[in-house]
Formats: sequence, C-alpha cells, structure tokens
Amino acid sequence: MKTALITGVTGQDGSYLSELLLEKGYDVHGTIRRSSVDFRERIAHLEGHPNFHLHYADMGDSMSIMQVIARTQPDEIYNLAAQSHVQVSFDAPEYTANVVATGVLRILEAVRLCGLTEKTRIYQASTSELYGKVEEVPQNEKTPFHPYSPYAVAKLYGFWIVKEYRDAYGMYCCSGILFNHESERRGETFVTRKITLAAARIAQGKQEKLYLGNLSSLRDWGYARDYVECMWLILQQPTPDDYVIATGEQHSVREFCQLAFRRAGIELRFEGEGQDEKGIDVKTGKVLVEVSPDFYRPTDVVNLWGDPTKAKTELGWDPGKTSFQELVNLMVDSDMAKVAVERAGDHVRTNLAEYLEKGIVK
Ligand code: NAP
Ligand code: GDD
Repeated sequence: MKTALITGVTGQDGSYLSELLLEKGYDVHGTIRRSSVDFRERIAHLEGHPNFHLHYADMGDSMSIMQVIARTQPDEIYNLAAQSHVQVSFDAPEYTANVVATGVLRILEAVRLCGLTEKTRIYQASTSELYGKVEEVPQNEKTPFHPYSPYAVAKLYGFWIVKEYRDAYGMYCCSGILFNHESERRGETFVTRKITLAAARIAQGKQEKLYLGNLSSLRDWGYARDYVECMWLILQQPTPDDYVIATGEQHSVREFCQLAFRRAGIELRFEGEGQDEKGIDVKTGKVLVEVSPDFYRPTDVVNLWGDPTKAKTELGWDPGKTSFQELVNLMVDSDMAKVAVERAGDHVRTNLAEYLEKGIVK
C-alpha cells in the first residue's frame, strides 16, 4: 500500500484528491491547521475511513512539517496548502510569501533532512497565475512567466525552488501548472462560486443583487475533480517534469454569469460599459448584477488560456472530460439545492451572502 501526504487536505483540491487516492488504495495522510472551531466541511465524509488520517501542521512552521513527514514517511507528497486567494495576497503579501513561497522550501528541506530524497516524490501545486500579464496566448510550458500579484510572485518562487531541488539533489519533484479549476466545493469568494451561489439565492428570492469586479476577465475554467487526476498522473511518470493542465477553452466572467443565471432560470442581458455595466433580468427589467470597484485588483490577470497538449500526449489526460456548460450546470444545481434548504437561522451562509452582497468580503 502506498502512502500519500496531502498538505491543504481541507481545501477544494485536497478533498477530491483524497477521494481519488483512497479509491486507488492509498493510505492517505492530510495536514490540517489548528483552529478554535472544528469545521472541516469538505472532508467530513472521509473522516473515520480506516486509511484516512489527519495531522496538525502549518506551512509557516518548519517543525510541524518536519514532524509530519518524519512520522508518515510518505511515498508521495502533494503540496496543495496555500493562501490561495489572489485578491487576499494584496492585503496580506508577507503572510502569502511565507506560506506560498517559503512553505514549499520547508517541504523540500524536510524531505531532504529526513533522508527521504530517494523515496518521496513531490507534487507542487503551481498555477497559471505565473503567466500573469501574459506574453502569449494560449500559454504552454515554454511561455515566459510574468507574475502579476503577490500570490503569483510567491508561487514563482515555489516553481523555481522545486526545479532547483530536482537539479541539485536529483529529487523527484514536479510542478503542475494548473489553470483555474472549480467545483461545487469551490471557496465562496472565488468568482465562479460567488456567481453560482448568488444566482441560486436570487432565483429563490434570498438575495437582491450580485456585485462583481472585472466582467471582461478571461479564464480557462476546468472541473477540479478532473484536475486532481492529473496531479496523480504527474507523479507516476518515469522522470519528473512540469505540465500545464487546462481545458484549452476560454470564457469571460460575464459569460459564466449569463450561463449560471440561465441555469437558475433567469435570462440576463448585459448593458453599459466598465463600472456602469449592468446585468438586467430580461423578464422583469430588474438590475441583478452590478459592477463594484471594490472587486477590482491593483493589477489583474485578464487573459488566461492554457494549451494542455503536453498533458494530453504524455500523461494521456483528457482535457475535455467535463465541458464548460457541464461545469456551470453542476455548480448551479448544487447551489440551488443548498440554498433551498438554507434556514433563516443558518447564520454562516446568511451572513456570508450578505457580506458578499455588500462587498465586506471579497
Ligand atoms: P483552497 O480551497 O483555498 O485550499 C487551500 C488549503 O490550504 C486549505 O486546506 C487551507 O486550510 C490550507 N492552508 C492555507 N494556509 C495554510 C497554512 N498556513 N498552513 C497549512 N495549510 C494552509 O485551494 P484549492 O483551490 O484547493 O487549491 C489547492 C492548491 O492549488 C493551492 O496551492 C492553490 O494555490 C493551487 N492552485 C489552485 C487553482 C484553482 O483554480 N483552484 C489553480 C492553480 C493552483 P484551511 O481549510 O484551514 O483554510
Ligand atoms: N474573486 C473575484 N470576485 N473575482 C472577480 C470578481 C469578484 O467579485 N469579479 C471579477 N473577478 C475576476 C478577477 O478579477 C479575476 O480576473 C477573475 O475574476 C478570477 O478571479 P478568481 O475567481 O478570484 O480566481 P483567480 O483567477 O484570481 O485565482 C484562482 O485561480 C488561480 C489559477 O489561475 C485561484 O484559485 C488561485 O489560487 C489560482 O492559482
């Protein structure tokens, strides 16, 4: 039985990857952070599984990382833990650098110091944000990087330190350069989930309006459940390498919004430009979507579009497994069902929706 260690197991990707590895017969260890509340929604269904184990560790704390690696002696490490919100990285750049950049170094050094360089393979969760202010479209493994946020700059360090340890110490460590991937489990402040949750709430009369930032931003959005399969495939290759993981399709935030509202039963028409653009309910004439500069970023990445040819040919991965329309549908359907059973006393969701609406939480 192979042993895997997943940092960031409570996150969107960590939860899907845990399911995949358990299905494959792995002994799965995940790291969680100490918190005053015990709330692990995404992995609650896995707790109690005989091959699923949790350990406390923080990416900012070398000793906790060293301890968990020494204790579990993993065959594979999937380093998914991160302060993963781009907007938040502008508000907390130092914290982001510590967790997202130096955190990767802590993992690599712990493996080395524990004498596991021959045994342990490492997957680093890299990102299309490295292309940032893009220098070509679509982007592939050879496209130059131009990070455009504190988050992306920190991830660039992670990418290069992984490459360095591969060359310097012959370690089996790889980066998956993953483009945006979403799901029913996506954090509620990322744009897709913010939209699907709002569409469901507006359709059910529980929210008045949705405020967004740059509607023209373009992304290559895939389904997280399909993408974790690639993480595993990357670590099964005879030699370590880095791969772009994307669908090869590009859509705007506006387009995602229109499809999501349509799935929720509302036909939207967009009118106006820039800050004055509005999404109007064709049937009632009511303005349901407005632009708020609160959600603009100091520097925004606006043209991500991945070329997954290498992953397709070398890993045998299918980038078209879940279509864009299917992704939107499954997210909206899930939120429609969640919102339908939301009670007035369900303060967590009720407050969050209100905060999103007022722009208190971005
Ligand atoms: P996510 O849902 O935000 O999950 C992040 C995970 O990291 C959570 O488990 C979180 O724990 C944990 N974490 C945060 N700070 C930590 C710290 N200081 N110490 C230990 N754990 C910490 O992110 P995701 O969407 O699953 O993404 C997984 C990884 O892929 C991240 O590294 C992200 O940057 C990268 N990535 C994501 C995408 C995407 O589109 N989703 C694309 C490219 C790359 P809590 O639950 O306690 O907060
Ligand atoms: N979050 C958010 N909220 N984004 C908005 C909004 C809004 O109200 N309105 C427009 N956007 C735009 C952002 O400006 C950005 O251009 C785009 O929508 C996507 O934003 P996010 O969903 O927050 O994702 P991201 O692309 O910045 O980052 C995600 O993908 C990266 C991979 O490219 C995260 O998962 C990162 O961790 C990941 O590395």
